[in-house]
Amino acid sequence: MQLVTEDNITELAQRRWATAKDPRTAELMTALVRHLHDFAREVRLTEAEWMTAVQWLTATGQISDEKREEFILASDVLGLSMLVVQMNHRFDPAATPATVLGPFHIDGSPELEFGGDMSDDVEGTPLYITGNVRSLDGTPVAGAVLDVWQADAEGAYEAQLDVDEARLRAKYRAREDGAYCVRTITPKGYSIPMDGPVGTLIEQTEISHFRPAHVHFLLTAEGFEPLITHLFEEGAEYLDSDVVFGTKQELVVRFEQREPGTAPDGTTCDVPWVEARYDFVLQPCAPR
Ligand code: BEZ
Ligand code: FE
Repeated sequence: MQLVTEDNITELAQRRWATAKDPRTAELMTALVRHLHDFAREVRLTEAEWMTAVQWLTATGQISDEKREEFILASDVLGLSMLVVQMNHRFDPAATPATVLGPFHIDGSPELEFGGDMSDDVEGTPLYITGNVRSLDGTPVAGAVLDVWQADAEGAYEAQLDVDEARLRAKYRAREDGAYCVRTITPKGYSIPMDGPVGTLIEQTEISHFRPAHVHFLLTAEGFEPLITHLFEEGAEYLDSDVVFGTKQELVVRFEQREPGTAPDGTTCDVPWVEARYDFVLQPCAPR
């Protein structure tokens, strides 16, 4: 029988997990065991603390369902999501940078025309986001799909509400010349959900639980890396303290006030509106 001691347990556990049939699983699991054991040793983890942590993980799982992703939120506020994004999307500096997906994206948004209104009956100031989708060399990316979603003026996403129809989300397609035009409402900064285990932890700190005003984008086009990103309003509150570490200077855009009149899609907007111009630059797929 093998004698297990405080000194050899890490090596024994690593050896066991190194038997995973898939080599990458073996690499991931042995490193995880090593780091977890190092962590427990470094902080001299007590049994009571470990039990508190297990209860927190249990509660995080229990509050999660198809509409609420508390583990993604936990990963976001720990900075882990953004670290993984940055390591896996080392795009050319001229390409639009990627940022976190967040827990509120919904698949299968309806497709709208150039300038189609994704805000429908939701109250707010009209916002047109326009520009081009292009490649690093400036070539237009005709047909690129822009999947767009955002929160309402109360900071609520459709995924958090009980609604039957698509709300503040839509897909747009770049035209032949690469131009796109999104019609929505101006976003506001909002708090991440604070009524779950992540909120309970954050409340024990000085961490701001807000995100700066933003609109989410997921761009896809054949031959290009998918791009998950946001656009942030220049001057918005919380740009420097985004609770999920998602802001990047390159993604901060001026929101210009416009008088009633012709909107970027050629229609008439009879109330004051706001225009944000941004060109998305996609990273071509690496050759295989
Ligand atoms: C969001 O912007 O939708 C979001 C991202 C990460 C955590 C919570 C919300
Ligand atoms: Fe968001």
